[in-house]
Amino acid sequence: YSVSSAFDFNSALFPLSASGPAGYTALGTPSTPNFDPGGQSQSLERNKSLTFLNGLSLVIGLVIGSGIFSSPASVNSNAGSPGAALIVWAVAGLLAWTGAASYAELGGAIPLNGGAQVYLSKIFGEWAGFLFTWCAVTVLKPGSAAIIALIFGEYMVRAVVGAEAVAVSPWINKAVAMLGLLAVTGINCVSTRLGARTSDIFMFLKFLGLLAITILGIIVAVTKGPWTPEPASLSTAWRTTNWFEETSKSTSQWAVALYAGLWAYDGWDNTNYVVGEMINPSRDLPMVINTSLPLVILAYLLANLSYIFVLPAEVINSSNTVAVAFGQVVLGRAGALCLALVVSGSCFGALNATTFTAGRLIYSAGKEGYIPNFFGTIGVRGSGGEQHMRLPRRSARAKRLTRLIADDQGFFSTPIYALALNAVLTGVYILIGDFTTLTTFYGVASYLFYFAAVVGLIVLRVREPELERPYKCWIGTPVVFCCVSLFLVSRAVFAKPLQALIVFGFIAVGVPLWWWRVGSRGRQRGKGREEVGWWKFWRRWGR
Ligand code: ARG
Repeated sequence: YSVSSAFDFNSALFPLSASGPAGYTALGTPSTPNFDPGGQSQSLERNKSLTFLNGLSLVIGLVIGSGIFSSPASVNSNAGSPGAALIVWAVAGLLAWTGAASYAELGGAIPLNGGAQVYLSKIFGEWAGFLFTWCAVTVLKPGSAAIIALIFGEYMVRAVVGAEAVAVSPWINKAVAMLGLLAVTGINCVSTRLGARTSDIFMFLKFLGLLAITILGIIVAVTKGPWTPEPASLSTAWRTTNWFEETSKSTSQWAVALYAGLWAYDGWDNTNYVVGEMINPSRDLPMVINTSLPLVILAYLLANLSYIFVLPAEVINSSNTVAVAFGQVVLGRAGALCLALVVSGSCFGALNATTFTAGRLIYSAGKEGYIPNFFGTIGVRGSGGEQHMRLPRRSARAKRLTRLIADDQGFFSTPIYALALNAVLTGVYILIGDFTTLTTFYGVASYLFYFAAVVGLIVLRVREPELERPYKCWIGTPVVFCCVSLFLVSRAVFAKPLQALIVFGFIAVGVPLWWWRVGSRGRQRGKGREEVGWWKFWRRWGR
């Protein structure tokens, strides 16, 4: 295991250059001789199969989710005026783009699976990667999945039962959110292929939804919309009012608006988690980033213009489900129903995409021994030996059908235990949280680590100027990103001290855990670590 993993590390790090290992040493020795970030040497990274389009659908599939349909309330009410809201949307998009461009440079310089976990480990030492993984597994992934699931529940209930049910009890929403969570977890357990196909289908749906909103908005703006069923509730205020009237003057309000906007753009780092599986990462990763983000920014600005054209400011500012209000005003009850379905579909797709990456992240953490090893196994038996369910003999037709949804190894050759852990944690957040608290909580935690990784980029530029970087962004990009994210995190600390404290508490708990799971490993490092089956896990756990 140790020999092959060392070999894989080099070839994965420099898939394209013959002189690879030279660059690798230039970076300094990895923190462990068996350094195998994410532990993919056994299966995942060997299989280089992801293309430009796959990368694009990974990013867009996660980025466009709940935010553009539910954040406008927070953005607009805090920004104060439609013009200011549009500026916030543009700034948030550009900020996400600077972050993503910085990550593209990191992904090119360190082309391995695992995202920030790998970058932090390489740059600051394994402890930093560990702390990130710890927070990602316990807070970032399940927290964000819970937010998306809650929005999914809210829109679904609205579509099926109507707004009254939402008012009756939030528990109905939460129950539906749980069902959605169970569904995506099931899908991703069955096969990787089924998970990927589900994402593709829903991506198509959400583009359609955004396009519909934009086109309807333009039509309404041009025709004034006398043909709509409820012309009375149609807003024409935008024609007369000053777009910047009543713009907010408070920094914390701007920060809250920015957080809400950033939530809608979040997920831009998703391709970085699977860089190691890309066929040509040095060319495709920057291309993915520099195509997807401008596209998303444009789509979001157009959708927001549409909202402003059609809806009165009070409705945008107060509705958690602005897209449904939009459908109601433009096309009546049927329109509201359609849009509610589109939005729940979009959330379902994003939930599916985030579950997909969460599974891989937890799987890697298990392989690394950060959490009990059986989370790092594939298949039903989880004995460390990549077991999976064999396909029975079947007819040609059944074969064709299974080929559509089964992986090459059959069904259930997925990180089932990792997915189950993610589902349990997400379920807890769904039960205890609500949209606004969770977004701030998530924003603080995630921007802290984005900040650390991008600072790492600058450190790497200074420390390793010779390192091969297939893509190099302008130095202003990471600097701008660092400044703004530092501002955001510090604002949140003052505005919501309790939530910030909980986040820092989580990170602090990671420190003793690091000593327990990894720090004490020091003496064995040279020997390599053996694979341990779940039945030996108790002994290991107590080590
Ligand atoms: N931008 C997405 C949305 O609007 C949220 C992405 C959450 N991020 C994540 N890494 N899961 O719903």
